[in-house]
Amino acid sequence: MQNLLHEIEQFCLRNDISETRFGELALNDKPFVSQLKAGRDLRGSTAAKLRKFMADFEANAVTNPAGSGRFPAGALAFPHRDLLGIAQLERHEILYVLDQAEPWVELNRQPDKHAGLLSGLTIINAFFENSTRTLLSFEIAGKRLGADVVNMHAAQSSVKKGETLIDTAITLNAMRADAIVIRHGSSGAVDLIASKVDCPVLNAGDGQHEHPTQALLDALALRHALRQRGERSEDFTGLNVTICGDILHSRVARSNILCLQALGASVRVCAPPALMPAGVEAMGAEPFHDFDAALEGSDVVMMLRLQTERMQGQFIPSAREYHHLYGLTKTRLDCAAPDALVMHPGPMNRGVEIDSEVADLLDRSIITRQVEMGVAVRMACLDVLTRRRRGVEGWGGAA
Ligand code: MLT
Repeated sequence: MQNLLHEIEQFCLRNDISETRFGELALNDKPFVSQLKAGRDLRGSTAAKLRKFMADFEANAVTNPAGSGRFPAGALAFPHRDLLGIAQLERHEILYVLDQAEPWVELNRQPDKHAGLLSGLTIINAFFENSTRTLLSFEIAGKRLGADVVNMHAAQSSVKKGETLIDTAITLNAMRADAIVIRHGSSGAVDLIASKVDCPVLNAGDGQHEHPTQALLDALALRHALRQRGERSEDFTGLNVTICGDILHSRVARSNILCLQALGASVRVCAPPALMPAGVEAMGAEPFHDFDAALEGSDVVMMLRLQTERMQGQFIPSAREYHHLYGLTKTRLDCAAPDALVMHPGPMNRGVEIDSEVADLLDRSIITRQVEMGVAVRMACLDVLTRRRRGVEGWGGAA
């Protein structure tokens, strides 16, 4: 309730409208906000309706021709056809997607989780690499928005019969998908497919390159956890985040370094020398090989899995030694800032990079919240990227 009131106040400030006018526009109920402040009860469905109203208002250049002030109007708020990586996004575009995800967080907590926004649209999830949570999350996101969602698994596809990636792309295109979500084991493969198809393409992880929706959902989970503690809401200025694990092979690390820094956080990366990419400093991250030193003063600790499927050769002496030096134990977590939050994109290898007693810490671990936010962020991405195709006013001329 406090969060919603805060969001309404910020919304009114950004858009220069009074709280009375807000009540009138959103619910045809002028005294609504003052009554809310006085303790009026609020149903979950009304909260979801209000958040949706705010998101739509700011997305719609017609009801809000000058833009929200915080974000440019209409398609200028997110002038990309595809979501290929965080590297292509401006800070305000990242914040825009996070804000667009907020109403979906609320909707997903209701018994009826359906919105018909993408009704009639076809979304193809083309996964050339194994995935459980990302595939499921995109599938649920598309279905909750009312789209027809089709999953293509590489193991059952013509790729196994020798079809080239370009031919697969041309085939998917001919089926007139309205959005294609792609996961591929090769860095750059998603960009290649995007250049061959006519519809929006969303990168669900390409090799060691990027995993943009993971970074966005991590940012949303962090935003919610910090807000819940009453600490911050808008961005991560002043926050120290340590990402520890197999940085070399991790697309999650790369997208998160870019995203967290864009939102104002300082990022440390920690890995054994063999798993630290050369030139990570050029991305603005501070490298560490000593985990205890990296943890000192860290407000957030993001643990990563050893990506053995991408390793050619021996990168670590043994899982046991790795855990000894780089595993997040309860004792080691005490080196971080008091109340430091723990994150992990999953899948977790308990007892290797993270101990169960840390992963399951109710007040510190936000790992399941990350999964929850994944659906909302992917709903926001599918909504925003299909607005042009759906003819949403203000989005017609987007690139
Ligand atoms: C990924 O796809 O990169 C995952 O979300 C993280 C992992 O596999 O470790």
